[in-house]
Amino acid sequence: MTGLVVRDLHAWYDKSHVLQGVDVEVPTGQTVAILGRNGAGKTTTLRSIMGLVRAQGTVTFEGQSLSGLPTHEIAGRGIALVPENRAIFTTLDVRENLTIAYRKGSPWTPDAAAELFPSLRKRWKSAAGRLSGGEQQMLAIARALMTNPRLLLLDEPTEGLAPVIVDHLVELMLSLKSRGLTILLVEQSIQVCRAVADTHAILDEGCVVWTGTTASLSSSADVLARHLTLENA
Ligand SMILES: Nc1ncnc2c1ncn2[C@@H]1O[C@H](COP(=O)(O)OP(=O)(O)OP(=O)(O)O)[C@@H](O)[C@H]1O
Ligand SMILES: [Mg+2]
Repeated sequence: MTGLVVRDLHAWYDKSHVLQGVDVEVPTGQTVAILGRNGAGKTTTLRSIMGLVRAQGTVTFEGQSLSGLPTHEIAGRGIALVPENRAIFTTLDVRENLTIAYRKGSPWTPDAAAELFPSLRKRWKSAAGRLSGGEQQMLAIARALMTNPRLLLLDEPTEGLAPVIVDHLVELMLSLKSRGLTILLVEQSIQVCRAVADTHAILDEGCVVWTGTTASLSSSADVLARHLTLENA
């Protein structure tokens, strides 16, 4: 069945019309990357899918409409957002962060997550606020898994992290993909997008201006130069 389908999505912050007809499709089991400059509307797209922003348009997941549903019901349909700010409880330890997010019946228990994230296991009793940026990102992803999502929305998971940690996160995303998770990934790093995504969508000023495969992305230097910040292209 088709995973996520977003059609003609518009979103507003007060009177500011930020998304102006976004179309994105994430087939079940695939990873799609959304690229774009700062302020292009990437986070707003993920927040609109989760029902966190005033939006109009069609969003369906596994054939069912999400339009107008409150966020907790959207989460209940099997969608989890790992936000830019990572949304972890800094004063709780790693195990506590996972335990309070755990949803009964999920195959992703805190122990199961620890197998996938050995570096978190080593920090099991550390306050989350004392973890490195990379460890905090892994904890945020592990927390999202506790709800047993079928679709993961990841907002710039590699931002600000050292290259060796970025490589580690790429491996992790590939591992989640191989376990059947559908992923919509927002990224500014083309290298990361190329490594994990099946298709790519470039967002500029609230519209998708280009979509294509990894091969076509690599041969579209003109598109990248036009719509992305040079350092990332
Ligand atoms: N809470 C808000 N209130 C008003 N305007 C906002 C708010 N959040 C974002 N915006 C504006 O909406 C537009 C899109 O922002 P958004 O955060 O979706 O961009 P982004 O592509 O995620 O950028 P970045 O790469 O910096 O994270 C920007 O012009 C931004 O200034
Ligand atoms: Mg953003």
